[in-house]
Amino acid sequence: MKNRLSRIIKPKDNRTVMLAVDHGYFMGPTSGLENIADTVNPLLPYADTLMLTRGALRNYIAPEIDIPIVLRVSGGTSILNENLLHEGIIASMEDAVRLNVSGVAFSIMVGAKYERDTLLAFSQVVDEAESLGIPVIAVTAVGKDMVRDARYMGLASRIAAEIGAHIVKTYYVEGFEKVVETCPVPVVIAGGKKTDEITALRTAFNAIEAGAVGVDMGRNIFQANNPEAMIQAVNAIVHDNHTPDEAYQILSKAKGSRFSK
Ligand code: R5P
Repeated sequence: MKNRLSRIIKPKDNRTVMLAVDHGYFMGPTSGLENIADTVNPLLPYADTLMLTRGALRNYIAPEIDIPIVLRVSGGTSILNENLLHEGIIASMEDAVRLNVSGVAFSIMVGAKYERDTLLAFSQVVDEAESLGIPVIAVTAVGKDMVRDARYMGLASRIAAEIGAHIVKTYYVEGFEKVVETCPVPVVIAGGKKTDEITALRTAFNAIEAGAVGVDMGRNIFQANNPEAMIQAVNAIVHDNHTPDEAYQILSKAKGSRFSK
């Protein structure tokens, strides 16, 4: 368990840049992920882990590539379904082991109609993963109707940790210190919908300042004007304690960047 956790959260600084490219499990061919290999390969040198589905792993990521994998194991509904938040288990722990993953990720829907189903399925995943020494990342606060504030994030994150999550992934909100303080396991933030680059960098910086151990970021990296420069900028904030303005310089200096003066 510790060995796998240290492949996700780097022991050198207790931080992580997780690159999330699992969106296809409910969104289909997401913009920027039409061919995951083409998008992801240039970004891997700046990512600590890659979060994706088993189908994406098998079809797009060569087995020789040395990147720790966090496997999405929840799903079962699509953006076309009004019950989008009713996810169940979509990959067995046996397959996760066979794929040699460093962790698995499961979305819990606290406060949504199918809360109970997702929390019970999540606890089953934790039981099975624990017996094999595999860390479980709880993805919380997904759903457009959720009020994303520190009180809700704190509640969802704490519930995830109490059920057995080893890492909690949630969204940055004002008062995030409280969310981190009341969650006994490491917290990472999702990036959310694509915003302008400086806003995404500020969000990552604020989350780290508030005590998050890193980011599990997708669209704000792979949909950026220059994804390679963007992940380097995010990496500079997470691992090198750069300010958003310092990190933004990386984008400005990138060749052919629309940010260059
Ligand atoms: C959502 O549940 C997926 O796990 C995404 O991987 C996650 O939201 C992170 O991606 P993004 O930064 O694009 O929100």
